[in-house]
Amino acid sequence: MKRITLAEYLYSETHTRGECSGRVADVIKGVALVGKIIYRQVRWAGLENMLGETGAINVQGEEVKRLDEYSNDRFIEVFQRNRLIGSMISEEMGERLMIDGDPLAAEFLMTLDPLDGSSNIDVDVTIGSIFALFQRTGGFDNGEFRLPRGEEMVACGYVLYGAASYFVYWMQGFGVCVFNLDMPIGEYVLITNDLKVPVESSIYSVNEANYRKWAPDTQKVVDYLRAGREKSTGRYIGSLVADFHRNLLKGGVYLYPGEAENPEGKIRLLYEAAPLGKLVTMAGGKASTGRQNILDIIPDTPHQRCPTILGSAKVIEEIEKIYAEFK
Ligand code: AHG
Ligand code: MN
Ligand code: MN
Repeated sequence: MKRITLAEYLYSETHTRGECSGRVADVIKGVALVGKIIYRQVRWAGLENMLGETGAINVQGEEVKRLDEYSNDRFIEVFQRNRLIGSMISEEMGERLMIDGDPLAAEFLMTLDPLDGSSNIDVDVTIGSIFALFQRTGGFDNGEFRLPRGEEMVACGYVLYGAASYFVYWMQGFGVCVFNLDMPIGEYVLITNDLKVPVESSIYSVNEANYRKWAPDTQKVVDYLRAGREKSTGRYIGSLVADFHRNLLKGGVYLYPGEAENPEGKIRLLYEAAPLGKLVTMAGGKASTGRQNILDIIPDTPHQRCPTILGSAKVIEEIEKIYAEFK
């Protein structure tokens, strides 16, 4: 079998396609480098006293794990060095980080969940890093540097840290690519460059312990997924990135709905729902709040949340019909 590494693939596919795709490709290479560094640390964390909490609380009010902080720092380090990113919005940083102080100097904004799956970090269950890259076309609204809209995304994806490491991304003008880390040679190697998610599936992934907190529309949706379809299988890892990856490959739907008292739910728009939403859409699936396409949401704040439903198109269309009954 011929092995095509990420660097070889990006060079052969992007160098003929004009300036911008070459620079996006350079960012993709940077993410792969950070991914390898984090995967190494995840595998050694138990030996190097890197499990557990730092003692700090992040802007979400959640305890910061040592590996959350480590992962955030590695993204900053690599992208500060290669000067491709003008600013970063990360789950682990309250404010947008301006790289070199001038957000207009570089071409891209990056949004980041440096390490997704907090509750699984210390127990050797799959976790990952999620990113999106936005073209800095907008400039200022009302004197404020405005937050990006879905259509400004030029790349997105995730690196998965599990029994193996996978790097899955989409960049503008290409299909969804899957690379698998070949550890001894230290390279991500191409598996496919045109991944499609099955349109139908029996798999649904939701934390059903939240059932009593949901409004009747969401309860009806989950009742339908559990018992109203011809076949039904529940799978919930509790790391969005890992649940998403399984459903992307096998078909399925991930849901983190809003709750009656907390209608936006838990998942953050700019660095969780939108990047994975764009990726699954480019793989032929859907990204919905139940009532709206996630990619149509215009963000007001960097850490804003949204009800999140990602996965197989046909199942999500059925879910949207149920929500529509409740208008
Ligand atoms: P993070 O670790 O980046 O804070 O995200 C955690 C998210 C997501 O990965 C996962 O799907 C969800 O939290 C799980 O939440 P519950 O424990 O409420 O099911
Ligand atoms: Mn997360
Ligand atoms: Mn996180």
